[in-house]
Amino acid sequence: MSEWKSKTVLITGASYGIGEAFAHRLARDGANLILTARSGDRLEALANELRTRHQIGITVIEADLSQSSAPQTLFEKTEAAGLQVDLLVNNAGFGLVGDFDNLPLDRQLEMIQVNVMALVALAHLYLQPMIRRRSGAILNLASTASFQGVPYFSVYAATKSFIMIFSEGLWAECQPLGVRVAALCPGATESNFQVVAGTENHSRPVKMQTPEEVVEVGLKALEDNCAVAVSGFNNRAMVFIERFVPRSFVTRLATKLYRPFSARSVAK
Ligand SMILES: NC(=O)c1ccc[n+]([C@@H]2O[C@H](COP(=O)([O-])OP(=O)(O)OC[C@H]3O[C@@H](n4cnc5c(N)ncnc54)[C@H](OP(=O)(O)O)[C@@H]3O)[C@@H](O)[C@H]2O)c1
Repeated sequence: MSEWKSKTVLITGASYGIGEAFAHRLARDGANLILTARSGDRLEALANELRTRHQIGITVIEADLSQSSAPQTLFEKTEAAGLQVDLLVNNAGFGLVGDFDNLPLDRQLEMIQVNVMALVALAHLYLQPMIRRRSGAILNLASTASFQGVPYFSVYAATKSFIMIFSEGLWAECQPLGVRVAALCPGATESNFQVVAGTENHSRPVKMQTPEEVVEVGLKALEDNCAVAVSGFNNRAMVFIERFVPRSFVTRLATKLYRPFSARSVAK
């Protein structure tokens, strides 16, 4: 039996991709769900589908995490509804590819707000009751982009690096407190991410993973109390090999892969 049966799980970014796959998987496990994202209509449709299939409670809360007040408002809504969150899946996030100087600054700052600021705020808010209960878990969505700079994806990779380092530290802080924390690092995964980021036509050296495969790795990381879990054999191999080669070599390789996204290289 799943440890999440009859527990309450809050999933941010549950309207698409990996978040939606977490919702399906945890609903099958018998968890009660709190689903949040901006697309309320998609969340309602997902909630209706899951309610007909599983005997679970589902709460939908629309929230735009690019608003700095959104995490606090979300927390207050779950508190007011008497919902005790046992697992927080800090999944909402997006990327933008292109020349740093050409990408709109407001969108890049919004990315930092959603990927980093909202994630930290939600972890802070929901960790406190978990510590009081001496139980609970937080799963933060990082990326294989966490492990090195990624040219033309520079701000995105930096947000994911932050998430991984933050999660590693918090994992250790929470060890004596009965709360588990993990960073889940997928590589390229089939979802709406590539469309939003502008990377859907990117030729990749490795096959994309499915969101379902990524979800399994995330839940296993929590089960095994791992601080960081990389999803997929190829991605794990890549991250492992990177440790033994100079960072400048890795950056040059990443430049080669991502240069097609530079407007300057297209203009040449
Ligand atoms: N797919 C990949 O290749 C990949 C690889 C590594 C890591 N990741 C990470 O995995 C996580 C999930 O991505 P995904 O692949 O599932 O992408 P996705 O299909 O685009 O889903 C992203 C989710 O984040 C939500 N979101 C975006 N902006 C938001 C905002 N301002 N407020 C609230 N919610 C917001 C979206 O919901 P709404 O649009 O409805 O708000 C959506 O549910 C992200 O953190 C991403 O960085 C993805």
